Amino acid sequence: MEQSPRGTRDILPGEIYAWQYIEKVFADLCHKYGFAEIRIPTFEHTSIYERGVGDTSDIVKKEMYTFNDKGGRSITLRPEGTAGVVRSFIEHGMSSLPYPLKFYYMLNLFRYERVAKGRYREFHQLGVEAFGSASPNMDIEIIALLYDFFQALGLKNIKLKLNSIGNAACRKIYDDVLRSSLQNMVTSLCSDCQERFAKNPLRILDCKIQNCQKQTENLPRLLEYLDDECKAHHEAVCKGLDDLGIEYEIDPDIVRGLDYYTKTVFEFTSENVGTQGTICGGGRYDSLVHDLGGEMTPAVGFAIGQERLLMELEAQGILPQNSVTIDLYIATMGNEASAFARKLVHNLRQKNIYCEYDLCERSLKAQMKYADKLNCRYCIVIGEQELIQNKAVLKDMSDKTKSFTVDLRDSDSWFDLLVS
Ligand code: HAM
Repeated sequence: MEQSPRGTRDILPGEIYAWQYIEKVFADLCHKYGFAEIRIPTFEHTSIYERGVGDTSDIVKKEMYTFNDKGGRSITLRPEGTAGVVRSFIEHGMSSLPYPLKFYYMLNLFRYERVAKGRYREFHQLGVEAFGSASPNMDIEIIALLYDFFQALGLKNIKLKLNSIGNAACRKIYDDVLRSSLQNMVTSLCSDCQERFAKNPLRILDCKIQNCQKQTENLPRLLEYLDDECKAHHEAVCKGLDDLGIEYEIDPDIVRGLDYYTKTVFEFTSENVGTQGTICGGGRYDSLVHDLGGEMTPAVGFAIGQERLLMELEAQGILPQNSVTIDLYIATMGNEASAFARKLVHNLRQKNIYCEYDLCERSLKAQMKYADKLNCRYCIVIGEQELIQNKAVLKDMSDKTKSFTVDLRDSDSWFDLLVS
């Protein structure tokens, strides 16, 4: 039997309610914060990610679904959303629009990763990207949005880990510090880290291999090498979060797995969602628009892994549950009653009543069994007698001692019962 490809999964009707619920809460909140939805293509020219995400990142080096299309162009299924949104920002000349520009998205993404708990090859993100403000206010704005979102979902223990990785100038100084500290041990690092040593030593601090992690744990961190401007920015972000009562913890180990970040970086982690444990990651990326061919434009954003967020909600016992009940089930006996029920259902649905009738031509007993499983509030049985008398009994399914005789030709007269 064919199965879905490794690392992909079906989101079945039984679980979709929780997905739709968190998407709605996220979209409503984004609108409240002035973020508008953007939808970008599922695939881009590969160079967007090579130049954007960075050719020393694991994503570009190992995880992209890249292929040549029939026209011989190198195409990549999006492994993340930021680079595509930036490409769209540049392509549509959005730098001429009044700043700030604030976007949100809900995307499916593709990374060829080792499949594990909370780690898939197709996964989903809820994210935001804001362009045109270099002010710490914008960093605070998106972190506040993230915090409000988690609060709206009822998440407990929301503590963001915050760091700054400075600008290009601080990075250059720090790269030299790292290279001279690592000089003597570089050959004992993994082969990827040896390459990182030459191209982008900061990436070594993000290596998942234990031996590399151990060797680098006591090295100086970039936070100690921030220049005055980056330091002031970082302090202003912290102060703003303090003012809003948003809890965070400074974690100098956060460097993020993508190359475009500058200054602020942050993550939200939890042990409940797998080995890497990151539910959300984000930060500022003031050079990415320029690197992808646009004007220098400050920007900041984040993305939440939707599967991991759902895992966390489940672990905290607050996974949104579908509480929708069917207002009315109409059981029928005979063709005439069925035709009558079809019209009645059509009419009631137009008035926003959630109702169903027998679509499988089952026996009355089977229909009643089905009605019990449906979790419906009221049930009505219509047969020949009921049609002759124009009367039927509306049964309250939660309290079967309660029933009401209703006029079949005048559903408006019992409409109030159904909506109460
Ligand atoms: P990221 O840290 O690569 O950042 O991904 C963000 C989140 O996506 C992760 O924290 C995790 O929850 C989820 N995620 C990543 N890979 C997988 C996977 N294989 N399976 C399941 N979930 C996964 C970015 O993608 C940046 N674009 C975030 C950003 C937006 N930075 C600025 N703006």
